[in-house]
Amino acid sequence: MRSIKELNLEGKRVLVRVDFNVPLDEHQNITDDTRIREVLPTLRYILDHKGRLVIMSHMGRPKGKRVEELSLAPVAKRLGRLLEQEVDLAAGCVGPEVEDRVGKLGEAEMILLENLRFYPEEEKNDPQFAKKLANLADVYINDAFAVSHRAHASVEGVARNCAEAAAGFLLIKELKYFKEALENPRRPLVAIIGGAKVSSKFGALENLLSRVDKLIIGGAMANSFLKSMGFDLGRSKVEDELVEAAGELRQRAIREGIKFYLPVDVVVAREVDPKAETKIVPVQEIPADWMALDIGPATSRLFAEAIYNAKTIVWNGPMGMFEIDAFSRGTVSMVYSVADSYALSIVGGGDTDVAIHSTGQTDRISYISTGGGAFLQLLEGKPLSGVEALGGTEIVE
Ligand code: 3PG
Repeated sequence: MRSIKELNLEGKRVLVRVDFNVPLDEHQNITDDTRIREVLPTLRYILDHKGRLVIMSHMGRPKGKRVEELSLAPVAKRLGRLLEQEVDLAAGCVGPEVEDRVGKLGEAEMILLENLRFYPEEEKNDPQFAKKLANLADVYINDAFAVSHRAHASVEGVARNCAEAAAGFLLIKELKYFKEALENPRRPLVAIIGGAKVSSKFGALENLLSRVDKLIIGGAMANSFLKSMGFDLGRSKVEDELVEAAGELRQRAIREGIKFYLPVDVVVAREVDPKAETKIVPVQEIPADWMALDIGPATSRLFAEAIYNAKTIVWNGPMGMFEIDAFSRGTVSMVYSVADSYALSIVGGGDTDVAIHSTGQTDRISYISTGGGAFLQLLEGKPLSGVEALGGTEIVE
């Protein structure tokens, strides 16, 4: 793929796909603008090089219909404040009115198109819709790493329909860190995988087995592994249909000489409630009507020791139900262990990202990816549609 730096942007209509799918509160206030801030270098670069900037993004999952609460209006305001320049929001993404407004853009002026997912054609990667988007531009830039795993019209189809297409600075940075961590890592390479469901991470675990030196598993997904070892998990969440596969994966890891770490103690409660009574118990002693909701302190120490000598760390998924204080300590302690290490640390996935922000340790992590699903897809070893449409991960200069 080409980099934006290789293109002449002066006077050109530059259509940029970004991922402004930012969290909003009930009053449509943006609660975290990281995804907006992360693409500012690309947007500023286009404006500085006298491009006529057309920005497009999705927000949420409106399922092909106009949903006022998912308008990009709050994003237009925040972006304007960050760029210190008013950002016009178009009423839609295609059609005569949008074409007219884009046609009238002067050099270094910009417009933000309304939520792409108000159109059912977007997620269907409809060729006509992709062509209409492409017709708005002379140059297409993908700087939307977080949605690049989706073969949607604005990510995939448009890249194939525009005369010139290239990657923005954020997309390049994300892929560069990922390569550094997983393709040519300094060793030991430690992967920490957590979260609720082993089913959603199984592909990633399988792929990681051929790359990592140590694999640490936490969160509710660890339960399926513990069950495969014969532990009684009480009422803990277990994906029964995956217990056998989890056992096999663990055996394979051991056979291949990968150090495999599971919780040795857990925080249990009878219900998922901030006020619930909690206990810390070894995994051998989970009471029948209790459930494991976080890793325990002995596990936190074990995991901290396991990553102590790491040279590269990749982390995806929390260690427990960290959104509830009583079950957040395992994840918080993992944040500090990763932050304290001297390793190159790459963290991805919405929840993990929130945990790091809430502890104020962001600056002590080498790189926090803006991607959730896209990051996971890379962990699975699968290419991203949006990157493939640009010609693949190798930067052509
Ligand atoms: C994300 O938040 O991971 C991206 O914006 C993609 O959103 P999606 O999962 O709704 O496609």
